[in-house]
Amino acid sequence: MYTQVAIVGAGPAGLLLSHLLHLHGISSVVLEARTRGYIEQRIRAGVLEQNTVDILRDAGVGSRLDAEGLPHEGIELRFGGEGHRVPMTELTGRAITVYGQQEVVKDLVARRLADGGDIRFEVSDVRLDGLTSDRPVVRFHHGGAANELTCDVIAGCDGFHGTSRPSVPPGQLTVYERDYPFSWLGILAEATPAVHELIYCLHENGFALYSMRSERVSRLYLQVPPDTDTAEWPDERIWDELATRFQLGGSPWPPNRGPIFDKGVTPMRSFVTEPMQYGRLLLAGDAVHIVPPTGAKGMNLAVNDVWLMARALDAWYTTGDETLLTSYTRDALRRVWQAQHFSWWMTSMLHRFPGDDPYQYRLQIAQLHNVVDSPAYATALSENYVG
Ligand code: FAD
Ligand code: DHB
Repeated sequence: MYTQVAIVGAGPAGLLLSHLLHLHGISSVVLEARTRGYIEQRIRAGVLEQNTVDILRDAGVGSRLDAEGLPHEGIELRFGGEGHRVPMTELTGRAITVYGQQEVVKDLVARRLADGGDIRFEVSDVRLDGLTSDRPVVRFHHGGAANELTCDVIAGCDGFHGTSRPSVPPGQLTVYERDYPFSWLGILAEATPAVHELIYCLHENGFALYSMRSERVSRLYLQVPPDTDTAEWPDERIWDELATRFQLGGSPWPPNRGPIFDKGVTPMRSFVTEPMQYGRLLLAGDAVHIVPPTGAKGMNLAVNDVWLMARALDAWYTTGDETLLTSYTRDALRRVWQAQHFSWWMTSMLHRFPGDDPYQYRLQIAQLHNVVDSPAYATALSENYVG
């Protein structure tokens, strides 16, 4: 089998890349370890920056996003028992859209299949070879048979635990990373959101986030210790803790309650590997960088990476010019490190770190006051948030 670009991983990065390449007349095959049902139900990100919405729309896959996505023009920062609105659109002219990552995945899978795209679900034993040759090979098992896919370029879009990054020989990549001493417990509940905009909240007990997926579904998060087992958090305890952390004016402020139908714990990590390419392997998305979710940047970075990658591959196939391919790492890293900084900053400002003293907490409150009191600070936060 031969294709121009072999894509490992059918997350937002791999699927969008395959679609963008198709628009440029470049062939690809997407290899995915999981089933279609699994990737279409996997609950993850929810905030699309303006850039991401523009890219999806321009690529002709924005119609359901336009119909069902929830545009937001501001966020609330809640701390010290008070809420403060940051009017992002007023400050930047841009907005975010709340639309579940799995909905983006569904839209992209449907479009690829409608366009005759080749996505192989449930592949296993994916191995990459010949990365420094001009005919790399991807070997994998599918439907019980061993397969070999020859290509010009391999796009490693297989997430943090994928096989692409570890296929680069030792010593070629440099890792920059930071772990955080807490996780997020996230829930989805059949409950009408009590608010129309997201609330990022710092309380003495830790961080809390009020988000949503629709007029009937709330998405809420709590900072919890790193090795938290969801069994320690029965529904009642979650709702009570949310009411405590979201307190206003000294009184608990309960979110609207409803049946919880999803509960999960996400570790927090900052991670970047450089460079983002090795020979004919180009890496994108979570396969090369991770941010803590406080800045809502992960999926947006994945989209930005593959947009740059598709542009570089188009230039190379059309004119033979390798300039954009060569500068892919440099071009992508600029945005990646800005998002690393923003995500680290939001995380540090809004979480309680074990061992922190009351002085540190007061510094965080002072920082948050700066952000909401100073239009310059609020604009800087908004520019980063809306992308
Ligand atoms: P992935 O989505 O991880 O896709 C990789 C794919 O590769 C998967 O389908 C996987 O099954 C497949 N794969 C893995 N290994 C192999 C293999 N060996 N062979 C074949 N296939 C393989 N980001 C935001 O932008 N905004 C948010 O609001 C936000 N909130 C988040 C909240 C939570 C709770 C979490 C967990 C994440 C959040 N993120 C957010 C981050 C975002 O979900 C990720 O950054 C995004 O999924 C990255 O996309 P990707 O395509 O690079 O990787
Ligand atoms: C959501 C997730 C985030 O990480 C974030 O910063 C905001 C919203 C969400 O899942 O809705």
